[in-house]
Amino acid sequence: MPAWLKDAVFYEIYPQSFYDTNADGIGDFQGIIEKLDYIKGLGCNALWINPCFDSPFKDAGYDVRDYMMAAPRYGTNEDLFRLFREAHARGIHVLLDLVPGHTSEEHKWFLKSGEAERNEYSDRYIWTDHWIKGIPGRPYIGGEFERNGVYMLNFFKCQPALNYGWKEPTEAWQQGIDDPGPRATREAIKEVMRFWLSHGCDGFRVDMAESLVKGDDDKRTGTCAVWRDLFSVKKEFPEAAFVAEWGHPELAITGAGFDMDFYLDHAGNGYNTLMRDYETAGGDHSYFLKDGGGDITRFLDDFLPRYEASKDHGFISFITCNHDTPRPSWTLSDRERKLAFAMIFTMPGVPFLYYGDEIGMRYCEELRTKEGGYTRTGSRTPMQWDESANKGFSTGRAEDLYLPVDSRENAPSVAAQEILKDSLLNTVREILALRHAEPGLQADTSFEVLHAIQGDPLFIYKRGDLTIAVNPSGEEKSSPAGILHGPGAEVLFRIGEASCKDDGAVCLGPQSFAILR
Ligand code: GLC
Ligand code: CA
Repeated sequence: MPAWLKDAVFYEIYPQSFYDTNADGIGDFQGIIEKLDYIKGLGCNALWINPCFDSPFKDAGYDVRDYMMAAPRYGTNEDLFRLFREAHARGIHVLLDLVPGHTSEEHKWFLKSGEAERNEYSDRYIWTDHWIKGIPGRPYIGGEFERNGVYMLNFFKCQPALNYGWKEPTEAWQQGIDDPGPRATREAIKEVMRFWLSHGCDGFRVDMAESLVKGDDDKRTGTCAVWRDLFSVKKEFPEAAFVAEWGHPELAITGAGFDMDFYLDHAGNGYNTLMRDYETAGGDHSYFLKDGGGDITRFLDDFLPRYEASKDHGFISFITCNHDTPRPSWTLSDRERKLAFAMIFTMPGVPFLYYGDEIGMRYCEELRTKEGGYTRTGSRTPMQWDESANKGFSTGRAEDLYLPVDSRENAPSVAAQEILKDSLLNTVREILALRHAEPGLQADTSFEVLHAIQGDPLFIYKRGDLTIAVNPSGEEKSSPAGILHGPGAEVLFRIGEASCKDDGAVCLGPQSFAILR
């Protein structure tokens, strides 16, 4: 894995909504360039930009029509190359979003594959061999093309599945992983990677990475094998980094060869129990909810085995949120999020901050769907920069904006939080600055649980020479004696109240967090 990941903190940008520099109401590459200093000042030194390629935008760009062409609404390829250069000049790495599992139904490969005569693209997608023969258990479409068959979908109707083969073909129309059609798909995707990497891109976030191979691939041995082949590109670009949208680091990292895997918001998993327990039945017992009665052992039971199984090969990536997930401000207060982010940013692995979470932007659930967003749309609204019109996102007309700006009276902005010492924004800055300064907070520094007991809100862990303690509850909590080796520990950072007792116990006030040495 590339060495630069050890100190990397990512910032996810939904380009539509970040910063509009030509007043057409939608964010653009120039807007990202103009905000690079802000991102750097926040403490993020890497970006993931959601798909910014030519697309009909029926799934916000996850329906790619041309992998090698920037979407004109954001700018040109040259503008994107310039963004890479401007980012690099500030020590910022840039990941693009690779969507290898499907294309737009308007992609030229797909249009060719629907032709009746066999051609170079006939096997690029998954087609049955008769117009009335469906694909059991999988979504498919018939009746649209001259070709005598139906084709498989990967997600929405606009997203036909690319053909990486079947684990164990059982029908004549299904191909094996190493048959010529699937092999050609792999080579085509490698060309896409090479194209952007050779122009200065630093790697990819990979969409739906776990489901390339179809059929009985429950253990993902087929998909892992395909990834190991795709990653032959890493030999040509050893500094390139890849993060999977997978959520199973023991497979994505250890099996498939990804450098990082997201700790995604999956109902009931460890990440979910920290911040988003509202998805499971029985009420919200999120650990960071002050009165949730949360339990850190639910998190650790899930996290520790995944961490142990992947830590020698790559990094788990905690997220504050992403473009598919309700913003954390939906259920957590400002203080609760400060504590949650403090923990996320001091865990091992490579964290990702979703744009706007650093100021506590709202999940605008009242919005109507935009570009296939549905319930995700509320997390995709324009960044709130200042108190000027459109909260500084765009000088265009409010009615022309990609999505409305959150116009509540107390909607946060960067400018307003900049001048408040204790704002979420400044808290995030302070933690990230410490993360970069302290070897104990690098991605690969050791992690050890010092105190985690069922029913006790106090959680204490060790990173290198640092001891980190968190108490999300409303009451003061003290650890047993001897957590710290004697008195006199230095508090490097705290939220709320923190002290060390002579017997080596750590004492945290209500809703408090501390990094000690
Ligand atoms: C991933 C993306 C999501 C998209 C889907 C289909 O889950 O994060 O936004 O709709 O894949 O590409
Ligand atoms: Ca624009």
